Amino acid sequence: MPDLKINKVHDESRQGESYGSFVLDSPTHTKKFYIESYGCQMNFADSEIVASILQDSGFGATRNFEEADLILLNTCSIREKAEQTVRKRLTEFRKLKQGKAGTLIGVLGCMAERLKSKFLEEEKLVDIVVGPDAYRTLPGLIIEAESGQKAVNVLLSREETYADISPIRLNSNGVTAFVSIMRGCNNMCAFCVVPFTRGRERSRDADSIVKECTDLFEQGYREVTLLGQNVDSYYSTNSLSTGSGQGEAPVTFAKLLANVASIDPQLRIRFSTSHPKDITDEVLLTMAKHENICKNIHLPVQSGSTRILQLMNRTYTREWYMAKIERIREIMPDCGISSDIISGFCTETDQDHRDTLALMEFSNYDFSYMFFYSERPGTLAARRYTDDIPEEIKKERLDEIVKLQNRLSRESNKRDIGKTFKVLIEGDSKKSSDDWMGRSSQNKVVVFAKDDLNYRKGDYVMVNVHECTGATLIGKII
Ligand code: 5AD
Ligand code: SF4
Repeated sequence: MPDLKINKVHDESRQGESYGSFVLDSPTHTKKFYIESYGCQMNFADSEIVASILQDSGFGATRNFEEADLILLNTCSIREKAEQTVRKRLTEFRKLKQGKAGTLIGVLGCMAERLKSKFLEEEKLVDIVVGPDAYRTLPGLIIEAESGQKAVNVLLSREETYADISPIRLNSNGVTAFVSIMRGCNNMCAFCVVPFTRGRERSRDADSIVKECTDLFEQGYREVTLLGQNVDSYYSTNSLSTGSGQGEAPVTFAKLLANVASIDPQLRIRFSTSHPKDITDEVLLTMAKHENICKNIHLPVQSGSTRILQLMNRTYTREWYMAKIERIREIMPDCGISSDIISGFCTETDQDHRDTLALMEFSNYDFSYMFFYSERPGTLAARRYTDDIPEEIKKERLDEIVKLQNRLSRESNKRDIGKTFKVLIEGDSKKSSDDWMGRSSQNKVVVFAKDDLNYRKGDYVMVNVHECTGATLIGKII
């Protein structure tokens, strides 16, 4: 059975083994590059930075890899399945190269560091390997590779945030955009490879974030999602030069949120991901205060058992997490809450698993990303614990977790029937160009007939919900 990617509502929006090539043809450049992104939103945002760097060095984008001079894969290492998918794709591109000498193939992102020698030397699958902090060196590496040298830079940095680079929006609907506010992670959750592949945590300068969001708004975008592995630990020692944080240093995540929210009431703000240990009352109160900060928190629990949470090095207990959920509901009763859950972590018992199910019921998640544990080389868990839960049991437990989440999502959607939501129109619905698709503040997908009314993408409309599926609310503009 494949690693499960669940949550149909949001399956474009975050993790999973999703990938996308981008949609931006540029006839004016002589050389063309093609890029595919795998994994999390951070990777998709990074590809937009890479596109900007390449454009500045004379490359135009193509959505057709067969006509590309440079094929790039922005890779993900979070689970074994993600790595396997990339490997398969590289083999396909390698075949193409055999019939078309001169095409360069490059691996970017999280697999770069771990697999550089394998890719470059043992398997000769690729020409260029670039880690997440070395994208500025890509133009130089392309020149090296063109002259037949091995081109590799996987150095991680303590400073790089690409703050000054204006991303080129790929695959954009022109309404919603991702804005990276920090890089790396210092948390060292035992299962997670991210601190090794993306390095130490560092925050991007607040002014450059506010400027990027302001520019997006002026270009017609109406929603920004602030991205980081752990956004609540955002911390910039440079004070903001404009907005409500004026003159006050340092800038916390709550202050950053308030500043971005003050750009314009018509600009919606989302953020991801929050670590339960770091999300503060200040953040919750800032969310409650600003109508345009979406009422939705992605608060990965990972496990419902305190013993497992300790082994995972999550630094909170089951009770502490429950108190956080209660606090969110107290401050924002209408807040959507979602989670990440891992089944079958080392030593997990049936009782631990039942604790997870019970905590899911308590938290009443609107949706979750659910995975079975996949040991990653170099992580704390790989070094310290035995991956001792048989795959069959991991999958059985995952199956139960998925079934429960499906029920919780369905119930959550049913509770919305009869309610009216402010929806930002993102485009045509997947199924019919007679219908619009948009999202509520709680991040639920809402589909509704266009009718004869004169609305466009990027408009806000009030939609009354009269029906739902497990993944979508169906309504009517009022
Ligand atoms: N195995 C399974 N799931 C994992 N995740 C991270 N590392 C692993 C792993 N080794 C999940 C976590 C995290 C999400 C991004 O991916 O739930 O929150
Ligand atoms: Fe990985 Fe934990 Fe950091 Fe998330 S917070 S990226 S799970 S180490």
